[in-house]
Amino acid sequence: MPNATWTRRHILSLADFTADEYDIVLQTAASFQEVLGRRMKKVPALQGLVVANLFFEPSTRTRNSFELAAKRLSADTLNFSPGSSSLTKGETILDTAKTYLAMGTDMMVIRHRQAGVVASIASSLDSSGSSVRILNAGDGQHQHPSQALLDLFTICRLIDPDRPRIELLEGKKIAIVGDILHSRVARSNIWSLTATGAELHLAGPPTLLPELFAEQGKDRPGKLFLHWNVEPALENADFVMTLRLQKERMTDSLLPSLREYHKLFGITRERLKTCKPQVKILHPGPVNRGVEISSDLMDDPDFSLISQQVTSGIASRMALLYLLGSGKNNK
Ligand code: CP
Repeated sequence: MPNATWTRRHILSLADFTADEYDIVLQTAASFQEVLGRRMKKVPALQGLVVANLFFEPSTRTRNSFELAAKRLSADTLNFSPGSSSLTKGETILDTAKTYLAMGTDMMVIRHRQAGVVASIASSLDSSGSSVRILNAGDGQHQHPSQALLDLFTICRLIDPDRPRIELLEGKKIAIVGDILHSRVARSNIWSLTATGAELHLAGPPTLLPELFAEQGKDRPGKLFLHWNVEPALENADFVMTLRLQKERMTDSLLPSLREYHKLFGITRERLKTCKPQVKILHPGPVNRGVEISSDLMDDPDFSLISQQVTSGIASRMALLYLLGSGKNNK
């Protein structure tokens, strides 16, 4: 276990996460993974606390795994659906959050389609003197910290299931391929993976991988590389993360066609031949089958970690709720 103790009160972004914080999350998640392997999968760690899932944008994986994680920790959970809430009567997002606070909510897990909204709610509630803890479950194209942390846990656990830690990624080559422009998952993964000893290679068409992404790696020399074709990113890669084409976020015509995209950037068995023989594929989901990845490869357990990512999400999110919810001195 790292010597450092956990002091963070909100998890809004991974931009300022430290190596010790990554290791604390990984090791706490490993302990909860062990709990989830028992017959009795529940622990009383957050008994009496209330966790509210405020998802202003659709979700399957993140919302349900945060809910299950909270329940496994014995917290009480509140779920919110925008369409059946008082938002439809004109209530603001901040007033919605304050309403949940007034009901005694200790932790809020918030997703919103606009970047910055989650941080703005955290800042307003902090200013009002509240001690509520806030987890960003995805804000626009900005950040998706819990996804990147579960991705890190999935990769490290594959290498050492008992003691996942970031030093295991020393010398590994990881490729992220696809719609990086619209991806909060990629932005969070760039922070986490460049904090390790891995080399991170981004690949996508120029319209979906603008050069400004090089900025995120400028303080971490030798860690981040950009490619506008897929081959150099895949060569000798240990892990390949492919991303969903986010058609709902595309405002212009950024691609000739989905078929053309698959031909140039789709992850297929043929393409994997230049990777390391034991290469593994990740995808945060949901997947456009046959677009960013061939359907057969997605379902092949010899290559695909996609189901393991979903499974790892529960222990990882238990770790995040536990670290924020159990801390007495979190700032
Ligand atoms: N990866 C992810 O955020 O999936 P959901 O949108 O289903 O939560």
